[in-house]
Amino acid sequence: MEKLVIEGNHQLKGEVQISGAKNAVLPVMAAALLAAGETKINRVPDLRDTRTMAKLLGVLGVQIQFTSNKMQIDATTIDRPIAPYDLVNKMRASFYVLGPLVARFGKAIVSLPGGCAWGPRPVDYHLKGLEKLGAKIELEGGDIIAKSKKLIGNNIRFDFPSVGATGNIIMAAVLARGETKITNAAKEPEIVQLCEFLVSMGAKIDGIGTTEITIEGVDELFPQEVSVIPDRIEAGTFLIAGAALGKITLKNTIPEHLSAVIEKIIEVGAEVVIDKNDITVKRAKKINAIDVTTAVYPGFATDLQAQWIALMSVATGSSIVTDTIYNDRFSHVPELNRLGANITVEGNSAIVRGVKEIIGAKVRSTDIRASASLIIAGLMAKGVTEVNHIHHIDRGYEKIENKFAQLGAKIKRISLDD
Ligand code: EPU
Repeated sequence: MEKLVIEGNHQLKGEVQISGAKNAVLPVMAAALLAAGETKINRVPDLRDTRTMAKLLGVLGVQIQFTSNKMQIDATTIDRPIAPYDLVNKMRASFYVLGPLVARFGKAIVSLPGGCAWGPRPVDYHLKGLEKLGAKIELEGGDIIAKSKKLIGNNIRFDFPSVGATGNIIMAAVLARGETKITNAAKEPEIVQLCEFLVSMGAKIDGIGTTEITIEGVDELFPQEVSVIPDRIEAGTFLIAGAALGKITLKNTIPEHLSAVIEKIIEVGAEVVIDKNDITVKRAKKINAIDVTTAVYPGFATDLQAQWIALMSVATGSSIVTDTIYNDRFSHVPELNRLGANITVEGNSAIVRGVKEIIGAKVRSTDIRASASLIIAGLMAKGVTEVNHIHHIDRGYEKIENKFAQLGAKIKRISLDD
């Protein structure tokens, strides 16, 4: 067990390199299953989640090497198309292997992900979509068993533009016979990266980056090399921290992916300067209370909601932060209140009454983004904050304490076993 100890109330200054995107690389790793031969992925963030996915691919029989942010995946042999409970349970994105395995091998057994820290998170769209492509789906002993000799293209409409279901169905449809049309598809940058990678492998996909995606199945795909896009959620986390705490330059971003959060940060009173792939944020002298409602891309990401609430906790005035993607993703709220924040949750909204200052305390992280919000709060708080259960942060942020320390934060990781 490890914890982060943060001495707050220090200004941040300097540059931070943004890593490759967790939510882009995970489906790309799954897509590597679609082709025999060696896929090369560059700028892979070294995270617990990328390691979990690598382990899962290894269990399937794939050869994997992962060093210095480069990964090689040789999916020539797959002997066991089975994703076991202990890995899927650790990381829901394991479910991404379902589509590619059924498409290439005609069969997959993937443990059904359970609920998570903030609610049920079902996978019904993934399963209904695969059924539409002709797969036979059964649930047995907590596992989804999906079978199909050859998937056949079809028209699929999602009730909600789910990122995961869109990715899974695209990966199934690229090797199906005939045309698949997905309506109300997700158009997050991570899905765009997945589609572009599949096209480089030989897939035929139209409408990339829109809500109507058309896929013409091909017989075979070929392995390729790809570089992962910068992580817009990691970048957004540093932008929000910078809006409260100093002057920092984020290197290697795609500013266009961050328009929603940049717009809000400017409303808060921070200065933002964009120079090609770099973004400099200079803190707001007075933090204005600004409402946020999360939405699908290009809206304000749910994965930045917790961090935004942390910032709003010290704003001048009250704000309402509403999450329309996940109704009850507020496990960070009671922890922020331990620091002296004044936040109440009503339905899918947090009402944040800004306080003059927050004071360090022991808190506990419950998921990846909740951890990030507690770190931001700890950096803003007076005194010392201990963030416990920090293993969550390592799922999605690469060496976050080193990155903040390089900016001048007083933050260190302590192993509780010592
Ligand atoms: N939904 C269903 N049925 C489904 C699938 C989704 O009802 O079959 C609902 C969900 O319950 C939710 C909404 O649709 O209310 C959106 O879920 P989505 O499927 O888009 O989420 P996801 O693919 O499971 C990805 C990210 C999440 C991020 C969401 C929303 C990855 C690996 N995960 O999850 O990231 O919050 O999209 O943008 O890409 C994180 O990185 O911390 C994280 C949770």
